[in-house]
Amino acid sequence: MLDLLITHANLPDGRINMSVAVRDGRIVEVAEGLQALAHQTLDAAGQLLSPPFCDPHFHMDATLSYGLPRVNQSGTLLEGIALWGELKPLLTEEALVERALVYCDWAVAKGLLAIRSHVDTSDASLLPVRAMLEVKKRVAPYLDLQLVAFPQDGVLRSKGGLDNLKRALDLGVDVVGGIPHFERTMSEGAASVKLLCELAAERGLPVDMHCDESDDPLSRHIETLAYETQRLGLQGRVNGSHLTSMHSMDNYYVSKLIPLIAEAGVSAVANPLINITLQGRHDSYPRRRGMTRVPELLAAGVTVAFGHDCVMDPWYSLGSGDMLEVAHMGLHVAQMTSQAGMRQCFDAVTINAAKVMGLGHYGIEAGQDASFVLLQARDPIEAIRLRATRLKVWRKGRLLSDMAPAAARLALPGRPGSTAFTR
Ligand code: FE2
Repeated sequence: MLDLLITHANLPDGRINMSVAVRDGRIVEVAEGLQALAHQTLDAAGQLLSPPFCDPHFHMDATLSYGLPRVNQSGTLLEGIALWGELKPLLTEEALVERALVYCDWAVAKGLLAIRSHVDTSDASLLPVRAMLEVKKRVAPYLDLQLVAFPQDGVLRSKGGLDNLKRALDLGVDVVGGIPHFERTMSEGAASVKLLCELAAERGLPVDMHCDESDDPLSRHIETLAYETQRLGLQGRVNGSHLTSMHSMDNYYVSKLIPLIAEAGVSAVANPLINITLQGRHDSYPRRRGMTRVPELLAAGVTVAFGHDCVMDPWYSLGSGDMLEVAHMGLHVAQMTSQAGMRQCFDAVTINAAKVMGLGHYGIEAGQDASFVLLQARDPIEAIRLRATRLKVWRKGRLLSDMAPAAARLALPGRPGSTAFTR
């Protein structure tokens, strides 16, 4: 006897009219036309059943703090960092936990069930770290929250930066972070990459650095990150986040760099909403887009995912935890408008993001967790186009959220009682 049988589902990889059988929180079979007794049966009627959305780059300690203590006037990354510095002395553990839990509720409703969050380790109190560890524990029954030790003020530039980061790891933070482009000099930035990769190798941890989040084409810390990954045998465990300077690098240098990234098995996360908002701020016109070279990295075999990065915080005033909005922006900024390109943008917030995070038991296949989202769309492209309603969200066989289909009740002359759902 099955717990759940979903029939007539379209899957993101192009399989259509599939049945998905669930028992004890796991998918036991995926096939066409399955017939079996189940406690619950659901006809998906040709709608898209996707594995959950994953956000591989977020800042849960800053989320929903918009306006505290003031708004970012210039809209730049550097004013955002300064503003976060003004807010930090005012933070309390309770308020951080409360805001993060609200965001996690939003995330679940949007089918976003795994988030990798950087957490600021710069302050000796480690207050954000303790708060986010508490959140991780509280949301564990319904959401995978990974934490990255992120030295926002620079691991070498800030007093006690390395010591504080190590203490955060001792407390149970999962991933080693960094911010080489914010260290004092290029050489200190490179030194920070080396020492943080060595620390990760020593402790057997993954690495995920904010890397070259800059319009400066000479910001080349990704080269050092790829080199250290290979030197220390960290292939498959290292991610470069942002990599926006690659947008502005000359093509000859990039033609050498991308194969080095691929060879080192380093993945990349672009943050389209934030990159298009924060980069190019020193330009007049033409103004650069500032997102890294997503199609070129993908073509070289690099795993590329998209992150949300910020929602209503010192760096970004909008957002709602909707990874389809992230994919939508990524598609436009990278001009990935072919059918294949649009599907790759959907993968960037699902399977590729899961790969960056190293999630196990992910995907709609027998043996994987019964975690998935039913969308009011027929395929990934339609899902992105409509930022489709998440009709139902399950995790390990348990229904966590459901939402009524979007439909307008029209009052048109001569067409009484008609409804419309724009396809
Ligand atoms: Fe970030």
